[in-house]
Amino acid sequence: MTLMRAISQDTFGGPEVLRPVQVERPEPLPTEVLVRVVSAGVNPVDVKTRTGAGMAGVLGEPPFVLGWDVSGVVEEVGFGVHTLHVGDEVYGMPWFPRQAGAYAEYVTAPSRQFARKPRSLGHDQAAAVPLAALTAWQSLVDAAEVRAGQRVLVHAAAGGVGHLAVQMAKHLGAYVIGTARAGKHDWLRGLGADELVDYTATRFEDAVRDVDVVIDLVGDEHDTTSTRSLGTLRPGGLLVAVPSGVSPELTREAENRGLRARPFLVEPDGAALTRIAELIDAGKVSIEVEEVFPLERAADAHERIATGRTQGKLVLRVAP
Ligand SMILES: NC(=O)c1ccc[n+]([C@@H]2O[C@H](COP(=O)([O-])OP(=O)(O)OC[C@H]3O[C@@H](n4cnc5c(N)ncnc54)[C@H](OP(=O)(O)O)[C@@H]3O)[C@@H](O)[C@H]2O)c1
Repeated sequence: MTLMRAISQDTFGGPEVLRPVQVERPEPLPTEVLVRVVSAGVNPVDVKTRTGAGMAGVLGEPPFVLGWDVSGVVEEVGFGVHTLHVGDEVYGMPWFPRQAGAYAEYVTAPSRQFARKPRSLGHDQAAAVPLAALTAWQSLVDAAEVRAGQRVLVHAAAGGVGHLAVQMAKHLGAYVIGTARAGKHDWLRGLGADELVDYTATRFEDAVRDVDVVIDLVGDEHDTTSTRSLGTLRPGGLLVAVPSGVSPELTREAENRGLRARPFLVEPDGAALTRIAELIDAGKVSIEVEEVFPLERAADAHERIATGRTQGKLVLRVAP
């Protein structure tokens, strides 16, 4: 049995439950690859899962190894893998919402849930991309079918998903409005936002009108951002409620106003990651990494992301 370093937890709880362990290195089944993880992205769903909220029901009781975002190098390929080879540099969000175990030195997963990482990015930056970028891409392209000329409102535009959604909506030809604190407006304008609302000073529903699509990355759980967003939509407009889904009350309220409200869950998608890598390498989309923590400081990264104030992404460096 070959062992590897990982971060695991024995109980649900605060960041202090995360601890370094040695676990068995996985082996690839047919159609899977073994990837040596260089860097792993950190996402709010990691924190929710650590505490027992969010996707915890899917992972079951601890112990488990968190993390879905991987950037690394193919170490072994299983029988039947045609498109990847040993030594390829790849990135991906494998297995979501099942356990991927990216906070570890190796992961195995179906080869087609990975793609070649953007050539212009190092592993720390590439690990920041998959979950956030797939969320932005699938919500804009697959859920909302955003077209050129439409008006798109992105809530939490400065966060991991939001800053990518701003750039992708712009790339699709939309007029992009974002909500963020004033200190982040210049940066977001540089990423292509046409209009910004400081949600701490202005009620966004008083300032924004005639929107075709709202990509809501805040939700109704802590404030009423989803419900209040209905007031920004034009007739027939669509709210994509990313974090907290759509309650029966919200569905009713939307229908009464002649609007649509849809929940959203990101899916593994190697083909979309290939497209996203092309956009990154072409300079159409850039990734902001606020800080890279060594794997052993996963708890510090969790404390930071739980503040809800991160600009862009946080990453764990797994390889020494
Ligand atoms: N359903 C899915 O498949 C899925 C996929 C990905 C993410 N999510 C969820 O979507 C949410 C966003 O994810 P993320 O990775 O982008 O989070 P994140 O990076 O932690 O977002 C942080 C950003 O949120 C902004 N923010 C906080 N409260 C805000 C508010 N009321 N209005 C506007 N901006 C606000 C902050 O900006 P300021 O400093 O300007 O306040 C900060 O830049 C999380 O709840 C996550 O769990 C769901």
